[in-house]
Amino acid sequence: MSNAIIYVFSGSGNTKRVAKEFARHFEADGVETTLVDIKKGQNYPSPLRYDVVIVAHPVHGFNAPTTVFDFVKQLPQGDGRLVYIVETSGEPLKLNDGAHLAVRNRLRRKGYGFGGYLRYVMPYNIIFRHSDGMAVRLWQAAQKQISLDYPMILAGEEWKTFTSPWTKLVNAVVRIEHPAMPVIGRGFKSTDQCIGCGKCERICPQQNIVIKDGRPVFGKNCVGCMGCAFSCPKDAIRTGILNSWRVNGAYPTEGTPCTDEEICSYWKGVYRRYFHAIEDQDVPPVMDK
Ligand SMILES: Cc1cc2nc3c(=O)[nH]c(=O)nc-3n(C[C@H](O)[C@H](O)[C@H](O)COP(=O)(O)O)c2cc1C
Ligand code: SF4
Ligand code: SF4
Repeated sequence: MSNAIIYVFSGSGNTKRVAKEFARHFEADGVETTLVDIKKGQNYPSPLRYDVVIVAHPVHGFNAPTTVFDFVKQLPQGDGRLVYIVETSGEPLKLNDGAHLAVRNRLRRKGYGFGGYLRYVMPYNIIFRHSDGMAVRLWQAAQKQISLDYPMILAGEEWKTFTSPWTKLVNAVVRIEHPAMPVIGRGFKSTDQCIGCGKCERICPQQNIVIKDGRPVFGKNCVGCMGCAFSCPKDAIRTGILNSWRVNGAYPTEGTPCTDEEICSYWKGVYRRYFHAIEDQDVPPVMDK
């Protein structure tokens, strides 16, 4: 394998961080790696020029954001080469297991093979804010697991994945989020705290924000990535009916990880199992190469 491309959709930076971690390992193994943002209006380099192809995205409502579907539509006809899907989610729930299916099916219809998918739990960018210690522990776990997973991709391995019929059903029902988000997004507003810096406009992967008279105006192409509200330096964005779920401000990647007792979640036991499944593996600690 001599080169790799990672197409990445990321609202609040988690998936981008994971993609960069893969890129760091690939480069250290001599594989030149290109990262390309998945966003509206983007011209994408052809995956046919790369030995290793990854599509990375967060889980949104047990599915993939629609921007990723639009991205697949733009790809040239495939030649059977394998594509891997890398996801991040806020929870280690089995219900996320079907999130790759719609993207996988679209890729297959386009003539691409499917190598498999990998998912890493990262701090929540919606509903509630994880504690700093939780964010640090999640990132350490993701880093360790990525260091174990990336060689499978470089080796061109294919692995089987299973999604239960129940999960598929829930995924299909929650996909209501796709048509709902452009409507909900119309209700986004800025407060008087806004300083007109334009960060939200620059960050929006849907070109859905335009700064007019020093304040953001929200259009009808929102996919609910929460990038604008998360990244606003003044926490000046109100996200309509989702406002009580708003999370603002970058998470730390370094510091003291939380203990099992300090896990902050509705699903303490599920996170504990997720952490220990990774942390208790008998492998050397992750090191910068
Ligand atoms: C609209 C929306 C829906 C989400 N739905 C889920 C979900 O179904 N399951 C889950 O585990 N996390 C969910 N999350 C959390 C994100 O997947 C998680 O925080 C992810 O790491 C964000 O990645 P990003 O920073 O690259 O955008 C959701 C986040 C958003 C904004
Ligand atoms: S990022 Fe925040 S402060 Fe900057 S323009 Fe947008 S709403 Fe205003
Ligand atoms: S308006 Fe905000 S939440 Fe909607 S797509 Fe743009 S950055 Fe994401």
